[in-house]
Amino acid sequence: MGKKVFQEFNIWDQVNLALTMYCPNLATKLGIRNIQKDVSKFFFKSVKDTVEYREKNNIHRDDFLQLLMELKNSEVKLSMNELTAQAFLFFLAGFGTSSTVTTQALYELGKNEEVQSRARDEIIEILGQHDNKITYESLAEMKYLEQVIDVLGLQHDPDYWPDPLKWDPDRFGEENGGNKHSFTYLPFGEGPRNCIGMRFGLMQTKIGLITVLKNFKVSVSPRTVTPLGMDPDTFLFHTINKVYLNLDKI
Ligand code: HEM
Repeated sequence: MGKKVFQEFNIWDQVNLALTMYCPNLATKLGIRNIQKDVSKFFFKSVKDTVEYREKNNIHRDDFLQLLMELKNSEVKLSMNELTAQAFLFFLAGFGTSSTVTTQALYELGKNEEVQSRARDEIIEILGQHDNKITYESLAEMKYLEQVIDVLGLQHDPDYWPDPLKWDPDRFGEENGGNKHSFTYLPFGEGPRNCIGMRFGLMQTKIGLITVLKNFKVSVSPRTVTPLGMDPDTFLFHTINKVYLNLDKI
């Protein structure tokens, strides 16, 4: 369903989305939805069934849905529509973004053996200092791994970043002043409406990369057609050509 929202977004879906964003009152009057009907039905039903099941069986989980259910049953009185909208947004914002970043990072790492080895060495060294466990602290210490997580944006502007099309994790290293120009590197936006899941997104992307890199050597398969090309018809950043990787067990 997540894939459908991002990739099967036809011209009418785009028109409907634009109407709901720029003329919300008119769109509501016309009964226009901003995501596909079957996707909307699926999420409404999944959330409703889960909430009902948990309430009926008195199930408590330490998760996001639990917090939403508590808001629903508090004086805030979150409606089921509002609860479903929050769950849907967190699912979409939390999965498409991190998986795209992970794919792009693995593609670049697959093309650049030296950077890949450096990232792997850092992973092995830091995990070794933490009983080989992925913990919040060990993730925070993996600075170089964070530098390989490049996100398209203003950092491709030659006015601010020399040789901007070169994938160069070192440009974000402390030896180069780190993120030296604030507001020229905005992978998570800035200001009061910036990404609420930034830390979580970085963490889950790092955990994914650690799991692959410590077990496999990554290379780009000859099936991958390059340049990847940027797909103008998708909701989030997607490439036109698919990324195929070879993973060789270490
Ligand atoms: C690497 C992963 C991620 C990237 C690159 C990313 C990027 C972004 C960007 C660029 C924005 C728009 C900010 C703006 O308008 O200034 C945003 C907003 C948002 N993101 Fe993320 N995001 C990521 C992961 C996540 C995760 C894991 C979650 C939730 C679990 C999440 C939830 C949200 C929400 C709810 C908003 C809207 C915030 C608002 O409008 O107040 N994101 N994200």
